[in-house]
Amino acid sequence: MQNILSVEKIEKYYGNKGNITKAIDNISFKVNQGEFLGIMGPSGSGKTTLLNCISTIDNITTGNIIINTQDITALKKKALEEFRRDELGFIFQDFNLLDTLTAYENIALALTIQRREVREIDKLIKDVARKLEITEMLGKFPFQMSGGQKQRVACARAIVTEPSLILADEPTGALDSKSSRLLLDSFEKLNKEFHSTILMVTHDSFTASYANRILFIKDGRIFTELIRGNETRKEFFSKIIEVVTLLGGDVGNVL
Ligand SMILES: Nc1ncnc2c1ncn2[C@@H]1O[C@H](COP(=O)(O)OP(=O)(O)OP(=O)(O)O)[C@@H](O)[C@H]1O
Ligand SMILES: [Mg+2]
Repeated sequence: MQNILSVEKIEKYYGNKGNITKAIDNISFKVNQGEFLGIMGPSGSGKTTLLNCISTIDNITTGNIIINTQDITALKKKALEEFRRDELGFIFQDFNLLDTLTAYENIALALTIQRREVREIDKLIKDVARKLEITEMLGKFPFQMSGGQKQRVACARAIVTEPSLILADEPTGALDSKSSRLLLDSFEKLNKEFHSTILMVTHDSFTASYANRILFIKDGRIFTELIRGNETRKEFFSKIIEVVTLLGGDVGNVL
C-alpha cells in the first residue's frame, strides 16, 4: 500500500510570547493511499488546526508534512497554490459555494482554474454529478438547494479534480440524518470504488463509523487509534462510543 501522507513530529503554536496556545503537540502519523481516516476529539483539541496544516491553509511551527513524496513545509507560495489546486480537495462545514454561480459553474470553477478544456470539463462534471446524485441540481443556484444538496455539490467540487487527498472538516455538521447518510454513502463509494484517500474531522460517532481508522486527538496529541478491520459499521460504532466516553471531559460535547 502506497504511503500518501506522512505527518512527522508536528507542533503548532498560536500567539506570541506570554500568550501561547499549543494547538498541536508533537503529532506523527501516516496515511496510505485509499484509506478513509476519521479524526475525532473534544472541542479545542486541535482537529481543525491539524487539517488546516495538512491542507496548507495554515503553517506548522515545527515538523514536516509530506504528501506524495513532496514536503509541503518546504514549498514557496506559488508552488503551494499549485499544489493545493492540483492535489487537494476540500470540503468545508459551511460548503463555501459561490451564491452567484449555479451548481454546474461552482463545480466547473476548480477545473477552469486548472485550464482544462471545455468539453473535458463538461464530461467530468456530468460524471461526478451522476456519482453523487446531483444531476438535477446542476442548473440550480445554492439558494435553490437544500443543505444536503449543497453539501453534495461541494463534495462534487472537491473530488472532480481527482485530488490525491480529500480533506473534510465536519462535513455532516450541518446536515440532517438523511442528508448525512447520503453524503457518507458518497464518501464510502469514492473510497471503495475510486480509492480516494479521505481525511475527515468529525464530532459525530455515527459519521466516524464510516471511516476505516480513527485517530482520537486530545490536548493536541494523539490519544489513541481505532482500526475497523473486519468489523461491521455497527460494531465499529460501539467501539467508537467507548473511546469517546473514555476520552472524558464533556462527553455531550464530543458526541
Ligand atoms: N487562529 C488561532 N489563533 C489562536 N488560537 C487558535 C487559533 N485557532 C485555533 N486556536 C486554538 O487552538 C486550539 C485548537 O483549536 P482547533 O480549532 O484546532 O480545535 P478543534 O479540535 O477543531 O475544536 P472544535 O471541535 O471546537 O472545532 C484551541 O485552543 C483554539 O482556541
Ligand atoms: Mg474544529
